[in-house]
Amino acid sequence: MSSSITSATTAGTTDRSDARHDPREAILSVRDLRKHFPRKTRGIIRRADDPVKAVDGISFDLYPGETLGVVGESGCGKSTAGRTTLQLLPPTSGTITFKGQDITGIKGERLRKMRTEMQMVFQDPVGSLNPRQTVGSIIGAPFDIQGITPEGGVKAEVQSLMERVGLNPEHYNRYPHEFSGGQRQRIGIARAVALRPEVIVCDEPVSALDVSIQAQVVNLLEDVQKEFGVTYMFIAHDLSVVRHISDRVAVMYLGKIMEIADRDELYANPQHPYTQALLSAVPLPDPRKEDKRERVLLTGDLPSPINPPSGCVFHTRCPKFRTELSDADKARCTGEVPQQRRIGADHEVACHFAATTDKAIV
Ligand SMILES: Nc1ncnc2c1ncn2[C@@H]1O[C@H](COP(=O)(O)OP(=O)(O)OP(=O)(O)O)[C@@H](O)[C@H]1O
Ligand SMILES: [Mg+2]
Repeated sequence: MSSSITSATTAGTTDRSDARHDPREAILSVRDLRKHFPRKTRGIIRRADDPVKAVDGISFDLYPGETLGVVGESGCGKSTAGRTTLQLLPPTSGTITFKGQDITGIKGERLRKMRTEMQMVFQDPVGSLNPRQTVGSIIGAPFDIQGITPEGGVKAEVQSLMERVGLNPEHYNRYPHEFSGGQRQRIGIARAVALRPEVIVCDEPVSALDVSIQAQVVNLLEDVQKEFGVTYMFIAHDLSVVRHISDRVAVMYLGKIMEIADRDELYANPQHPYTQALLSAVPLPDPRKEDKRERVLLTGDLPSPINPPSGCVFHTRCPKFRTELSDADKARCTGEVPQQRRIGADHEVACHFAATTDKAIV
């Protein structure tokens, strides 16, 4: 990395936090988070292979009680971002601050305690539930792990949780295979909320479910949020589900956040060429509008996170780069990593050539 890029990085990061005028205080702040997976390959010559840069310098805030949607193509690092934020995976670098405390890299007892505050709901409701445990012991496990006995006892609390998520409490002694996909995800949600955490990362919680069941589970997550005031990071492929559930949305590409904004702002006024392309691929409910709409087509394959393109990682597929920019501007895209910068009240974009949407902040 050249020194000019390093200084741009520092300046960019400082600008971001200083420029933020959001009066709400974040419950969780992630700054310049990286998660690189080392690769082990066997060969005649042993050498350190380049790592997989699954998450490569992301920054975002979560505000109390909100839902931050996270979207992006398969392999762009959404799950890794969620897991690293919760410290289910140790970060390579960067910081995670929870309620004002730096929790980056905490271990042992502190990490175990932190689990009462932050939980995860997984995509695969089958693989994430132990098939040999009864539903009662699955949902009750967080109490055992934390050594907490709820008022009235674990069984009564678990049965009340089952009722709360729409399961029959009499099915306490049944096994996961006796439930449908949607019901299994309800078990996963009951387990995640058992300790009344403040933050839950939902990693594609409805992607594996039938479309008819998806809405029920999304509604349940919304009810749980209202009742317990929990904050969600909601990872999904489906842009319409994300639009429905999110207050703010982050768009990821090759381990980076390309754009993050208020939900309505992002869908109405996307500024990053990647977001514009993603949104243009979502079918519109009105066929007349659908016919008139212009699609932004992305050319080329998704590059590898082992060897991402220089400068802006999106430049190899960027329609703006290809059709609108001068050679001098292009040199900036290929040579300088764009930092997330604020372009509107609740709108950040990592593109050198995105327009500012809010005149007041220029
Ligand atoms: N444990 C691991 N070891 C090595 N590479 C990994 C590991 N986990 C993820 N990766 C790689 O990191 C990149 C990001 O993966 P990740 O699962 O976070 O993406 P994703 O956006 O959640 O994808 P999907 O939408 O398919 O769930 C991918 O290239 C993936 O192959
Ligand atoms: Mg994933």
